[in-house]
This record gives sequence, C-alpha cells and structure tokens, in this order.
Amino acid sequence: MHKTRNGGDLRAADAGAEVTLAGWVHRRRDHGGLIFIDLRDNSGIVQVVFDPQEDPGAHAAAADARGEYVLQVRGVVRQRLAGTVNPRLATGEIEVRATEAAILNPAKTPPFYINEDSDIDELLRLRYRYLDLRRERLHQNIILRHQAVLFIRNFLTERGFIEIETPILIKSTPEGARDYLVPSRVHPGSFYALPQSPQQLKQLLMVAGFERYFQIARCFRDEDLRADRQPEFTQLDLEMSFVEQSDILDLMEELFSSLTRRFRPDVSMVEPFPRITYAESMERFGSDKPDLRYGMELADVTDLFRASEFGVFRSAIEDGGRIRALAAPGAGEFTRRQIDELTEIAKSRGAKGLVWVALAAAPAAITQEQIRSSAARFMTPEIVRGLAGRTGAGAGDLLLLVADRDAVSNPVLDTLRRDLARRLNLADPNRFAWLFVTDFPLFEWDAADNRWSAVHHLFTAPKAEDVALLETEPGQVRSQAYDLVCNGWELASGSIRIHSRAVQEQIFRLLSIAEEEARERFGHMLEAFEYGAPPHGGIAPGIDRVVAILAGETDIREAIAFPKTKAAADPMFGAPSPVDARQLRDLSIRVDG
Ligand code: AMO
Repeated sequence: MHKTRNGGDLRAADAGAEVTLAGWVHRRRDHGGLIFIDLRDNSGIVQVVFDPQEDPGAHAAAADARGEYVLQVRGVVRQRLAGTVNPRLATGEIEVRATEAAILNPAKTPPFYINEDSDIDELLRLRYRYLDLRRERLHQNIILRHQAVLFIRNFLTERGFIEIETPILIKSTPEGARDYLVPSRVHPGSFYALPQSPQQLKQLLMVAGFERYFQIARCFRDEDLRADRQPEFTQLDLEMSFVEQSDILDLMEELFSSLTRRFRPDVSMVEPFPRITYAESMERFGSDKPDLRYGMELADVTDLFRASEFGVFRSAIEDGGRIRALAAPGAGEFTRRQIDELTEIAKSRGAKGLVWVALAAAPAAITQEQIRSSAARFMTPEIVRGLAGRTGAGAGDLLLLVADRDAVSNPVLDTLRRDLARRLNLADPNRFAWLFVTDFPLFEWDAADNRWSAVHHLFTAPKAEDVALLETEPGQVRSQAYDLVCNGWELASGSIRIHSRAVQEQIFRLLSIAEEEARERFGHMLEAFEYGAPPHGGIAPGIDRVVAILAGETDIREAIAFPKTKAAADPMFGAPSPVDARQLRDLSIRVDG
C-alpha cells in the first residue's frame, strides 16, 4: 500500500501518529524555509509541512513538486499551534510534519484550475473530464450519487423489492423519442434498439410473478437535449403488483422525504407532499410541473373584460380564449426595458402580446392617473381592483395578462412565472417543494399525424370512471398516470397499467395502431396478458435529476460522471465517430455521403 491513512480523515485525536499519505498536490506555498503543501486525496485535504532542518530530502521533493503532482509523504501528525488552526478544513486542527517524501508521478499544468470553483468552458471540462472530476464540487456530487443510489437500493430491499437486470439490446418500438439503433451482424438489415426505458420488461416481470421489482436502469433516447435531458440517463425503474395508485405515491413519498432528510437535512419541505390533479395544476400554474416555492398563481380574469372595448381581449374571448393574469410581487418598478424583455419571452413561447399593469398605489385607493399599463385606456380603477382581488396584487406589484386559448397561454404564463421567480429571487434554494400531479389525460391530439397519441405511454390504464368516454370523447379520458415534481422539475413519472388484453387492444385501436402492427410490435405483451397478468403499476424517477436536486445543481450533467454535450457528443473519446469500412461491411451497412 502506498498509504496507511487517508489524509482527509486525520483529526486532532491522531496527533502523534506516524502516517504515510499519498495524493495530489492541491496547493503549494514556499515560504523560503518551510514549504506547505495541501495534499488532496479522495477523502479531502490535509496540510503537510516540509522543514529543511528536519529532512532535507523530503524538503527537496516538495520544492520540485507542482500542482497536481502525485506525492507520497511519510510524517507525523501534529496539533497545529493556536492561531494557525484552519476552521474551513475538516483537518484544520492538525498538520503532518514530513519526514520523507517521494514524487510518484509528475503532472503537466492542467488546462484549468482544479483547486478553485471557477467558470470553465463546457467543452474543455468534458474534454478533460478526469480532471474536472477532481474538482471538489463535482467530486462530491459523484460521491453523493453513489450514496443516494445505495440508500435507494437499501430502502427498497428492506421493503421486499428485488433488483433485476433487463437487456440493453431490445427491439425498436418507436413511440415518444427516437431510438438508438444497433445493427445486427448476424441478421443483416435488422437492428436492435437500446431501451428508452425497461417499461415492457418490467411489466413482463410482473406477469412472471416477482411482484416488487426495481432496477437502476440505463435508458437511451435520441431527443433534443436540455439542462435536464441527456441521451443516456439513469432511472430508478420500479414496478409493483396488486397495488393502486395511492400505494405507489405513498411509497415514493416515504422514499423521497427520507432521501431529503438524509442528504439535505438543511432544507425544509412540506409533508405530506401535496397531491393535485393535472387540471388543477394547469389552471393554477399553467404547467404540469409547477415550482411551489413561490406563489404568482394564475387567475382567470376573463369576466372583468367581458364588456371591454379592448380589441385584443375581445377577439381572444370570441376565439374561445380566456384572459389570465398573474401578479409579480415588487415588479411594479420594472423598467420599460425589463417589461419589453418579458414581452419578448411571452412572444417566443407563442403569445401574440403581453398586457401589463403596474400598481403604483394600493388597489383600494388607486386613481385613473396612477394606472401605468400597456393598455391604460382600457383599464379603470374598478378593473384594476378586480385584477388585484383575483391575483393578490398589491401596491408595487406588476400584473401580467395573457389573452389566448389555454393551449397557448399555459406555456406562456408558466415561462413568465419561472422567469419572474428568477429575476425576483423568489425560489428559496433551501426548500424542496415536492408534489404529486395526478389524473393526467390519457390521450392528446397529435395534429401533425392527425391522430390521438398517449400522454404517458400506451400501457397506461384509464381511470375506471372515465372508461365509458373512451369511444365517445377520448380527449376527456383521464388516466391513472402521475408525476412526482420537485422545485419545478419532473422527477418521476408512472402509472397503473392495463393488464387485460381486450382493454390494451382497445387502446391500440384508439391510437390508430392497426391490428397487424399491434401484433408485430406488441404481440408479446398482448400474449402475456392472457397468462394471468396481475393488476400492476409503477413509476420511474430519473436518478440524474434526483442527484442534481440533492446537490443543488441546475444541470444534470453536474450529477453524471461522463455526460455528453448538448449535441450528444463526447469530446473526450471523440464519440460518435466514423467506423472503418470493414466494420460497416460486416454489418452490411453502406453510409451515404
Ligand atoms: P418517463 O419517460 O416519463 O417515463 O421518464 C421517467 C423519468 O425519467 C427521467 N428522464 C430523463 N432524465 C434525463 N434525461 C432524459 N432524456 C430523460 N427522460 C426522462 C425523468 C422522468 O420523470 N417507463 C416510464 C415510467 C413508468 O411509467 O414507470 C418512463 O420512462 O426524471
């Protein structure tokens, strides 16, 4: 062994101990005589002192060492003198006086600082990810990820779940995102697909009688990437037999509240987690993943403008739209430029425009002259009082109004709400606002393909009381699908599944999947349902998102050891890359262009 102790673990109680340490030179200070090196290893940082009087050899090695050199040191742990204690370091009460030292490996000057948390170009970070991962924040995130996954595995194991691996090479069943395909050499012209999730496999495991399954499962989706999306990511995939929706939500609540308590004892959360329906969530927040750390709830103010002459509002109402508003606290002072920015944001999400009203005075006392608005001519003190009553606005607040159909105004208002929370600093980082959103619609209309498509996925069961609407009003049917949301992020999605062949076939029909196609793509599922499939349901939290939230990060790449760029590339390996002609020939593949 190159070391007898981890440097970061040394404490005052170790004073007097002789230790051998090994790690990286985090920082080096040469005081002419004494040299101080902060030696870093996986456990943390410890200060090592090299005194030329004590050991000239060790001192010479320290003099040669530079940042990120790999160093081995033998020495004695000493209590630091009063006044030199470093309260910012866990090892700050002690230091190691070196008696021997050896450079195990020199290092080139790294392309960025390892020992400080600075902004570094993303490509550079990913190109040298092994150095990026040495930096404390990322290093701790990856350790946290291990601990959180271990916690989850133990939690579920204690509750009778077993982890089962499922294949990575499966069959393409295009639905949702695009598949990543893998050509077969043995079957020229045929392809495997990497799983977008183990959805069908976990349902088949229920038919197989396992009753409580989970897996820390890798999933692959060829979709546009964002801060919360990677082409390959990890799910806690979970499925249970003989359960109802509330059983799964209760289990998730217990898991995520205890995860929070274990890893973020500093944050506050509301328990029990609120459970609201999709319809309520869209009405109050314009989103199915609302951030509940702040208010700014949406209000329907259509009736206040029924008699209005304002053409924009009139035509929106005539077109079947509504006027909805939110009040941004303290934003009444926004400059024209800031308001123009909000208008641009609204337009970029599809709004025709944005009407604003700034409250210069308390609504009860406001006069016509005090009303500042983009539609001042159509605003009276009475209307402003009405708006304030609905939205909770007071003096100094800014009212924003969007007139359109809900399909347009929901995303616009949701985006404004999030943007305002950021500008006004309303989202408390020390709160985790968990909630469940339930009763999602079963179908949504796909205008491009002119057919219904599944909102969650096509194995999701309709709500029992809505089954009668399947044939008459498919758009009105609610499903037994649910999401777990935290601080405006969708962390998990799941549903109670269909377990009867007849119902599954009916859903395929409604989704315009022809019988032939259904048999070809999902015949194995339909068949399995005929061999005693138990009632079952499940959910899949995204591990990358969960770890990012626990770590206080806003991009899941900070919670993944080797993520891809937003263009789905790996700049370290240079993937994806062309392959040689022979490999292609073996696979019977010809590349055009
Ligand atoms: P869904 O597609 O909603 O459901 O995914 C579940 C959860 O997986 C995470 N997630 C992602 N994380 C990072 N990058 C991505 N590209 C990405 N896509 C999804 C999210 C999301 O909430 N089989 C169903 C689950 C079920 O019904 O049990 C499914 O995959 O956190």
